[in-house]
Amino acid sequence: MVMNMDLKGRDFLKLLDFTPEEIIYLLDVAADLKEKKKKGIPVDTLKGKNVALIFEKTSTRTRCAFEVAAHDLGLGTTYLDPEGSQIGKKESIADTARVLAGMFEGIEYRGYGQEIVEELAEYSKVPVWNGLTNEFHPTQMLADLLTIREHFGRLKGIRLTYMGDARYNMGNSLMVTCAKMGMHFTACTTRKYFPDKMLVAVCREIAEKTGGSITLTEDVSEGTKNTDVIYTDVWVSMGEPDQVWAERIKELSPYQVNGAVMKNAGENAVFMHCLPAFHDLKTKIGAQMGERFGITEMEVTDEVFESKQSLVFEEAENRMHTIKAVMYATLA
Ligand code: CP
Ligand code: NVA
Repeated sequence: MVMNMDLKGRDFLKLLDFTPEEIIYLLDVAADLKEKKKKGIPVDTLKGKNVALIFEKTSTRTRCAFEVAAHDLGLGTTYLDPEGSQIGKKESIADTARVLAGMFEGIEYRGYGQEIVEELAEYSKVPVWNGLTNEFHPTQMLADLLTIREHFGRLKGIRLTYMGDARYNMGNSLMVTCAKMGMHFTACTTRKYFPDKMLVAVCREIAEKTGGSITLTEDVSEGTKNTDVIYTDVWVSMGEPDQVWAERIKELSPYQVNGAVMKNAGENAVFMHCLPAFHDLKTKIGAQMGERFGITEMEVTDEVFESKQSLVFEEAENRMHTIKAVMYATLA
């Protein structure tokens, strides 16, 4: 039985806005909903309510997770794709928020700047959930925490090393998440890709209270030694210009997650990735980059991606259970 905590009406914009206890509560709700789903016990108590799903960038996991979770909960959904609405083009965010809040009980937003989802929430009288911005990806964080907790049986004290572009949504979010949960975060990448200094300072202050820590290092051997979780993400994120591929491949290749990295981390270490991942040439962009730069893999080798240490598909499934928990806790 999950302890009750009142998050009704709350926005879910970034983990910085939540206490460790609230985050644990959301994980407990997710674990409970997951167990019920596996046992075939329906939880569709939100029948009669509707949610809007705004995607200004493309998605597989986040969209499907919101739609399936909503359906399971009895919620109706309306998907607004990157092209098919007036948002941002003919109608401001403030106006959109007030229009949608009159028809829906909750609004998901995936897009560009964090300030956009914050503005949407400011003008919306119903909860707004961040489905990814350039700066943060909080629903991904809950899925990652649930996956780590399922695997290791705890969060506190877990060492997580993030390799690659640590200045963007995934690096930022993982650093905040580790600080909040008393975990040890290491950004292992070249200095240029270290997270923002101000955010590092905020996270170090949080970590001091929770028993976590934040380390920034350019040294792969040191940064990945005896760590529990090796995490990476694509080197070029959605919305970034095509021209950055060449420099990213050159600068981030030394931080590729490969067999040597996993060996250095130790046999009990796991590999995680928010996905989608470039681990082979079986995608259009992967094949193009393969041809342009003479490579077959990018941020992670196919060997690691497909290995027993890889938790990527458990992590992807947990997107649905955790997103369901966010909607359930803020709407029910
Ligand atoms: N991890 C994640 O957010 O995936 P999508 O871009 O497919 O939603
Ligand atoms: N950093 C990636 C994450 C995708 C889930 C992006 O923003 O494209």
